Amino acid sequence: MIKIRGLTKIYTDGQRELRALDNVSLDVKPGEIFGIIGLSGAGKSTLVRCINMLERPQEGQVLVNGIDMTALSKGDLRKARQKIGMIFQHFNLLSSRTVFGNVAFPLEITGIPKAEIRERVYELLRLVGLEDKADSYPAQLSGGQKQRVGIARALANRPEVLLCDEATSALDPETTTAVLELLQDINRKMGLTILLITHEMPVIQQVCDRVAVIENGRIVECGPVLDVFTRPETEEARRLVRGVIDIEIPPDLLEQHANGDGPLLKISFIGDSAGRPIMGALMQRFPVMVNILFGRIDHVKDTPFGTLVVQLSGENEAIAEATEFLAGQDLHVEVLRDV
Ligand SMILES: Nc1ncnc2c1ncn2[C@@H]1O[C@H](COP(=O)(O)OP(=O)(O)OP(=O)(O)O)[C@@H](O)[C@H]1O
Ligand SMILES: [Mg+2]
Repeated sequence: MIKIRGLTKIYTDGQRELRALDNVSLDVKPGEIFGIIGLSGAGKSTLVRCINMLERPQEGQVLVNGIDMTALSKGDLRKARQKIGMIFQHFNLLSSRTVFGNVAFPLEITGIPKAEIRERVYELLRLVGLEDKADSYPAQLSGGQKQRVGIARALANRPEVLLCDEATSALDPETTTAVLELLQDINRKMGLTILLITHEMPVIQQVCDRVAVIENGRIVECGPVLDVFTRPETEEARRLVRGVIDIEIPPDLLEQHANGDGPLLKISFIGDSAGRPIMGALMQRFPVMVNILFGRIDHVKDTPFGTLVVQLSGENEAIAEATEFLAGQDLHVEVLRDV
């Protein structure tokens, strides 16, 4: 749905050149919620702004649903942009217009008849749960309500793609969850492709299918959220997701269970395996004792992900067999400390 190839954007500030985007290539599939994470200044906003040509890249190509955005005339670009909705961190609503007026605005520009606009605006306000606020002004709304207006406005022209630049960063955690649920709902019901840019890892964890990590204008890692969050490959990704899911075992826990008491294993359960009674099976099959030291279950979108730290004790041979059994169970087993 979005195909980016070799995108480079350079800002020139007097003598100095800054490569805000450096040869970025990326594919976002239809109907996917795709996240982009990176530190402040990494180039996230520049990337979204280069997708709808609010910024002109020096090099590269951006195809949105097959249309090459870099090659369009002004008039065609205006038309193409109607199929790309965008929501912002600070909502960017028109303060002199009511909620109705804000959502109607893009439809007025398109030249749609008044009666049709009215119908469409109320349909959108129903979708975002704000019918009763049609006559309110932005100043009379909470942050979450303002973002709902922003979402309704972005959807007015039935876009194929929704770009979200830090759309929940100005909201409290509860309101963030509500807005993310709304976006997921829209994604499911309308099959809308969503590109979501954020520095908040829980946002990615809650709604995204895949994620790309951007550092100094370059994509350094890209893959399913579960993979990037549980097995980050680059230092930048590790730094960003640290503590979210790639849990750190409390060091004193490791010290307390020093050498000699049996091996310490960190076992990661993903998806179906998170629900199976594997530890029970282990103790029934092998003459070993399992001492559970640490455990937690997280979710990445709809997939459960569990982590367990256990110490096995028993005869060496039984421990070896038990460890082998675990490794064959579609789990990820890491030996934190051997015997
Ligand atoms: N109009 C501009 N002129 C010059 N430099 C710019 C301009 N816009 C952005 N930059 C620079 O480009 C780099 C990338 O900026 P960008 O806004 O894309 O970062 P970001 O990842 O969105 O950061 P944040 O998380 O803080 O929003 C930064 O170093 C920034 O200073
Ligand atoms: Mg930004």
